[in-house]
Amino acid sequence: MDKLVIEGGVPLSGEIVISGAKNAALPILCAALLTGEAMTFSNLPRLKDVATLLKLLAQMGVRVTPDSGEAVFLDAKDMDNPCAPYDLVKTMRASILVLGPLLARCGEARVSLPGGCAIGARPVDQHIRGLQAMGAEIQVEQGYIHAKAGRLQGARICTDMVTVTGTENLMMAATLAEGETVIENAAREPEVVDLANCLVRMGGRVFGAGTDVIRVQGVEKLHGAAYAIMPDRIETGTYLCAAAATGGRVRLLKTSAASLDSVIDKLMDAGCDIQLARDAIHLQAPARLKSVSLRTAPYPAFPTDMQAQFMAINCVADGVATIRETIFENRFMHVAELQRLGADIQIEGNNAIVRGVAGLQGANVMATDLRASASLVVAALAARDETRIDRIYHLDRGYEDMAEKLSRLGARVWRV
Ligand code: UD1
Repeated sequence: MDKLVIEGGVPLSGEIVISGAKNAALPILCAALLTGEAMTFSNLPRLKDVATLLKLLAQMGVRVTPDSGEAVFLDAKDMDNPCAPYDLVKTMRASILVLGPLLARCGEARVSLPGGCAIGARPVDQHIRGLQAMGAEIQVEQGYIHAKAGRLQGARICTDMVTVTGTENLMMAATLAEGETVIENAAREPEVVDLANCLVRMGGRVFGAGTDVIRVQGVEKLHGAAYAIMPDRIETGTYLCAAAATGGRVRLLKTSAASLDSVIDKLMDAGCDIQLARDAIHLQAPARLKSVSLRTAPYPAFPTDMQAQFMAINCVADGVATIRETIFENRFMHVAELQRLGADIQIEGNNAIVRGVAGLQGANVMATDLRASASLVVAALAARDETRIDRIYHLDRGYEDMAEKLSRLGARVWRV
């Protein structure tokens, strides 16, 4: 199993290009199931999760050429197997995003239940309830969601909580439904907006994405289109944190600050100087960061996917920070590993109290989930001496060429 070895203590310096957004690419690739015409996608990140999804789509009968890369062509004309089996879904929860499109286009779907994961239970009841409101008959048997429907019917759906993939699944299903669907309490995440823009490019009638009420007027058919995936705001935020933690100075290219306000505000509160250009972000870190408290919540508030990386920078900042996680019940798995590097963190329910220390010290640590792994990388870059991070397959799910990008910024990092 691959490990990442990092010799910390080098301030990051230089520029790198940010990849396409994983969390936009996954739903947008699933949107190809909604049409029998060809779709071309560009700015796809080369990630394990994207490869898994392309494999899943190919298994359903979608023509995928080539089977990886930054630009991919998908043709679902002859798609004949509306099934997402357990062995693929268990490695990537986002596979649930095929449910809405399959049901809308084929009138049936058989999708394995994603089950729990390291960061919590993560049920999909809201996806199921929304599709039922649109007329689907759904049974959950032997670990599979069996869904059937004639043409889906527009409906008024109010989700119990803000759910990103739930909003995306329902929005995609609604594009081919008869009549209007209104999704209330919709997720406002920029990736939901990117998916809506792609659906509109395909001839979908989607209004209000980016607000908490999305209206979709169903059409008979969607057509093929070309679409470029938005830049990854979480990858951007992670490299900003890595630069901040090491006292560095970096310029991130082909990215956008538009969807990163809450993260950039916190980095400025921590003492970083940040300059924004049209598609670039420049960060200069202070000699010592100041602690910043935060609370995760749905967009536009602070993203749960950046919580672990901010925990890492608070570990080496001056002062005491409180980090409150409100989205997932078990998203402090990185705390025990950060403590191995010498961090001073106390957990009280959903709060982590982080007391900044003068410096961290390299050690052997283990990645537990995607963003937890990113926090260990940030901490290791700031730590003295060598850190070995085990189980970095988690990182490969969501960060394209991380070791190479960090090397380009001057970090001493090796994959072994
Ligand atoms: C998406 C992101 C993930 C991010 C998360 C929260 C993708 C592929 N993944 O995950 O990176 O961390 O949003 O911003 O976009 N819930 C239910 N029932 C449901 C659906 C959700 O109880 O049917 C709960 C979840 O357990 C969680 C909360 O709602 O506590 C939010 O989850 P959700 O927004 O659905 O997360 P994902 O879409 O899986």
